[in-house]
Amino acid sequence: MVQYHDYDAVIVGAGGAGLRAALEAGKRVKTAVVSKLYPTRSHTGAAQGGMCAALANVEEDSWEWHAFDTVKGSDFLADQDAVDVMCKEAVTSVLDLERMGLPFNRTSEGKIDQRRFGGHTRNHGEAAVKRACYAADRTGHMILQTLFQQCNKEGVEFYNEFFVMDLVMVDGACAGIVAYEIATGELHVFRSKSVLFATGGYGKIYKITSNAHTLTGDGPGVVYRNGLPLEDMEFFQFHPTGLYRLGILLSEAARGEGGILRNSDGERFMERYAPTIKDLAPRDMVSRAEFFEIKEGRGAGPQQDYLLLDLTEVDPEVVEKKLPDITEFARTYLDVDPVKEGVPIVPTAHYAMGGIPTTIEAEVRRNHTGDTVDGFYAAGECACVSVHGANRLGTNSLLDIVVFGRRGGLAMAEYASTHKQLEVPEDAHVESESWIMELLEGDKREPSHAIRTELQDVMWDKVSVSRDEEGLGHALKTIDTLKARFADAHVKDQSKIFNTELVEHMELGYLLDMAEALTVSARARTESRGGHYREDHQLREDDHWLKHSFITRNEEGDTELGYMDVTLGRYEPVERKY
Ligand code: FUM
Repeated sequence: MVQYHDYDAVIVGAGGAGLRAALEAGKRVKTAVVSKLYPTRSHTGAAQGGMCAALANVEEDSWEWHAFDTVKGSDFLADQDAVDVMCKEAVTSVLDLERMGLPFNRTSEGKIDQRRFGGHTRNHGEAAVKRACYAADRTGHMILQTLFQQCNKEGVEFYNEFFVMDLVMVDGACAGIVAYEIATGELHVFRSKSVLFATGGYGKIYKITSNAHTLTGDGPGVVYRNGLPLEDMEFFQFHPTGLYRLGILLSEAARGEGGILRNSDGERFMERYAPTIKDLAPRDMVSRAEFFEIKEGRGAGPQQDYLLLDLTEVDPEVVEKKLPDITEFARTYLDVDPVKEGVPIVPTAHYAMGGIPTTIEAEVRRNHTGDTVDGFYAAGECACVSVHGANRLGTNSLLDIVVFGRRGGLAMAEYASTHKQLEVPEDAHVESESWIMELLEGDKREPSHAIRTELQDVMWDKVSVSRDEEGLGHALKTIDTLKARFADAHVKDQSKIFNTELVEHMELGYLLDMAEALTVSARARTESRGGHYREDHQLREDDHWLKHSFITRNEEGDTELGYMDVTLGRYEPVERKY
């Protein structure tokens, strides 16, 4: 039996963006958070190294330098009006968190300490600058705890372990969501004047990823299935330091604190690729450099298929105190002690630059011509605002979630205060209900886990750090075949209580959607830019490709691409050198 709930603001997702939005909305209107996980288990908790803001606590800095670095790091695809908003609001955003009680590391004078991170520089690229505010290598964890406490204080209501299945759309506007309660198998319709998606990324399309098992693109998947667009999906970030074979993140803070990347000859190879800031070049460049080192036979290990993160020249006390978690990860998972020897690392699928297109007030865009969807908002990794363009700088993600989560919360509260609840049809849940019943009662053929593994393999082999026409075409064919098998797949467990097999099946559907949108967008973009490197089109081509891609799936199930101009500003696109 379906259950109904009524709110002014419903936020889907309880990571940093969702909680920051909920905090703002919750102070103003009746607000609920609907989350697949218990909030403090959200993936923001895995963000390690820091959140950047030009506080200038340790070295001279300015928000304009931060904006320049962000635009250059994005390979000039970021919208510069959005970047300005983010970099200006960074300072107050960090101070707000400090006042809420976030335990940042401190300088000896008691100020918030700051450290170096990739692509963040002083005076337009002169040298690396200390801009990342941090709490050891647990910054995201601390943000999550702090915001969750504040939301509870403001009376935000939580529906934990609820899985989003659909949007309720009335005459083109958003009027709520349909969600599946994992503990009971019941469906719930949340009628709400405003809805914000903050469901995180979809790194689980790849075999090797820093992402948690739960990052399956649920929010963007729901949007895509409702005929709304996804923006810049071809741009996916590979973080240069994932633990060999496992992909578990070793924070870039390790290089910020003095760690060095070496190849099998012991060479500091980044000196060749980025002579000015070396190991602290942006992630797209470092991951690509690692890819070339391995391809050209300079990888380490018996199979020459990894590189080494060398922390042996960093003061062991700094390693133990400022990087405690990643030190432990290396010891636990690879039996390697970072203070004594190089840690085997590889690029790991880390972050989606693309997602649900939004304005700087977090309103969801209906198309590439500027219309928005009434009552519908998105923020955080599932969204594309676009501040990261073709490549995100480290620590700009924790900043993005806090800045645009707050803006989204304010905007949805304002909308809810000035609009009536739209009438939700009685059958809003029926499509979701029929799908589940068919899955549970049908006698279908194949379980879905093999489909997931094949998807992750093909995405890793053909659509990761380096791509070309042949590989992308092959991947698309495979995705089509996997979609057909998925439509025919079954769920063995027919119970209603905590049916995790059913949840994983639904997640796989979203992963297939994300893989399709990413691969189609990547195949169309015949240039190289940021995280999208085409071996068969190695140059950036601003004359033709300085534009955002918008992909939709029409009612016949075919994909369609449209393009929107990049919003330029103070910084004209130039060749990117570091
Ligand atoms: O390396 C890291 O600590 C990751 C940070 C980020 O993705 O922003």
